[in-house]
Amino acid sequence: MELARRYAKPGRTLILWGRNAERLQRLATLCCARGAAVVTRQINLLDGKAALQAIREDDTKHPLDLVILGAGLSDIQTAGHPTEDPEKVLALSLVNFAIPTTLATAAAERMIPRGGGKIALIGSVAGFYELPFAASYSSSKAGLARFAEAANLGWAKHNVRTTLIIPGFVDTPMSQRLDGTLPFLVSAGSAARRIMRAINAGKKEYIFPWQFRALRVAERLVPHFLRERILLNLKADQKPAKNS
Ligand SMILES: NC(=O)c1ccc[n+]([C@@H]2O[C@H](COP(=O)([O-])OP(=O)(O)OC[C@H]3O[C@@H](n4cnc5c(N)ncnc54)[C@H](OP(=O)(O)O)[C@@H]3O)[C@@H](O)[C@H]2O)c1
Repeated sequence: MELARRYAKPGRTLILWGRNAERLQRLATLCCARGAAVVTRQINLLDGKAALQAIREDDTKHPLDLVILGAGLSDIQTAGHPTEDPEKVLALSLVNFAIPTTLATAAAERMIPRGGGKIALIGSVAGFYELPFAASYSSSKAGLARFAEAANLGWAKHNVRTTLIIPGFVDTPMSQRLDGTLPFLVSAGSAARRIMRAINAGKKEYIFPWQFRALRVAERLVPHFLRERILLNLKADQKPAKNS
């Protein structure tokens, strides 16, 4: 939402995707008021074939020069449950990994003959850690990171650049579901500004806020057994999802 609002400018066409028609319409009105031309598409990314067809249709009508794949689901194993919910693991794996990698590939396939383009994927610092209470979320983001790295290697010679955004905690409905303190929480507006700067600068990867970059360096000094012990001792719980 913040990203769309900030990208909305006269002379730009935004193609906005979302599940919720009402929310999508509200966002479209806001972006139109800021001078952008707006096309909306109500879509559920759990339907991968429909998503693939949709990006091809949208690209045919409005050749895409920047694609931001930000949709995501999060879930953690709640207290008293020895595993995550397998249904949620399936949905999360699709929305966080299978669909963004599919859509990125479809976008690159169209951008390459046109001479290039930019693709941004939204990962998470969770992808750096084997979180025992969020195995599916952390691994979906780790997979996405590996995809971004590999795709960038393969596509850079065709002038298609991928930017992997790696946020810590951002103040959105996703993090608001989590119980407990969220270290180094960043506002959605600040996150959007940083993301836009990173995409603009053509960064391959951008971790924010800086504390998580520093942690990345410090954790190299932690022996494996200690790392596992720390991860096993992390406490996490969440409120029930509004739309689950
Ligand atoms: N918030 C954080 O602390 C944080 C930290 C690290 C990474 N991230 C990542 O940042 C990205 C954005 O998350 P957020 O914080 O903005 O969370 P959010 O407020 O929960 O938003 C998630 C977005 O994903 C969309 N989405 C989820 N399932 C979908 C589906 N089946 N089909 C279509 N759209 C679907 C939602 O669409 P609707 O509007 O239709 O519901 C919503 O726009 C995610 O990839 C997340 O993993 C977030």
